[in-house]
Amino acid sequence: MSTAPTFTPNDVNGASDLTALLEPVAADIAVAEELLETNMIDDNPFVADLLSQIFQAGGKRLRPAITLLASRATQRQDLEFSRLHIILAVLTELIHTASLVHDDVIDKASMRRGKETVNRKWNDRLAVLLGDLLFAQASICLSRIMNPVIVGIYGQVLGDLCAGEIRQMRQQYSTDVDWDAYIRKSVCKTASLFAAGSHSGAILNGCDNETIFALKEYGLNLGICFQIVDDLLDVTGSTSTMGKQAGSDLQGGLITAPSLFILERKDAQAARLKELINTRAVNEETGTTEALSIIRNNGAVEQTIELSKRYANQAKEQLTKLPTSVFRDSLGSLVDYVITRTS
Ligand code: FPP
Ligand code: MG
Repeated sequence: MSTAPTFTPNDVNGASDLTALLEPVAADIAVAEELLETNMIDDNPFVADLLSQIFQAGGKRLRPAITLLASRATQRQDLEFSRLHIILAVLTELIHTASLVHDDVIDKASMRRGKETVNRKWNDRLAVLLGDLLFAQASICLSRIMNPVIVGIYGQVLGDLCAGEIRQMRQQYSTDVDWDAYIRKSVCKTASLFAAGSHSGAILNGCDNETIFALKEYGLNLGICFQIVDDLLDVTGSTSTMGKQAGSDLQGGLITAPSLFILERKDAQAARLKELINTRAVNEETGTTEALSIIRNNGAVEQTIELSKRYANQAKEQLTKLPTSVFRDSLGSLVDYVITRTS
């Protein structure tokens, strides 16, 4: 696969230093990391080792960070910050990690976060079971929160994750342009978990419905934006910066925003891309390389950036409904980070 130029737009509010923007919740994130580590303790040393490989491989921890920032941004002055918010952040990361372990089985992926995937290093059966074990740990966290509304929200997320993957499978190699289906799939597989994390803390804090709804919309829009950027990076990013295989979406028949922008035209480039997909030529390296160059050389990258910015702006708009604080500022900077990220 040829190396694609790395995408670094210079016309948005750059916020590449994630550590700096998460500073207001750095102490909370450290406690959440500690709790994630205790999840790695298992009677079976082989399982314990697998769990530590998964969590120590890193990850940006964006979802727990959003959960903690939103919890702090809506904290009541008369109450101490509760450990339940930390558990909420941990369970959000556990669900995310579990879904990636399962996703790598579905996608037959060999690399994640710069390391060999569990399915590649061992086998699919072990990866499915390890993902299940992480979901089980998340359920235990959920029970400790003792809030039926939040149980319902996260139950819905689990259903959405599966439904999103099924939708994606059903849309494979489909060259019919259906933006609604693309956005719905992105809501299910990505934005649903962002939204659960962004508004559950406000529920625990007993906030009014307007605040809870604003944070839910923030998470939904940021999650859709995140998925669009993910799909863009698959076209423009490099395997070394992303720590996972670039160009793999088209090769696996996944038709995402950059391809949709070409396919919706009625020109020669659209016809050629359609042909490469319909004949499954994209499954081979030469076909993917040609398809990627059609996308990169005909404005689809720029159109995808514009689309991601629309969702980014909608996420930011929601924050005006929260009281001013350093936590609210960081939630805003996180939107800039998501839109400028390269991995
Ligand atoms: C990554 O997408 C995958 C997801 C965001 C969700 C995957 C969800 C499942 C496999 C279902 C989970 C199962 C249960 C039981 C809830 P991607 O493939 O676009 O991103 P990638 O390039 O990082 O792999
Ligand atoms: Mg995948």
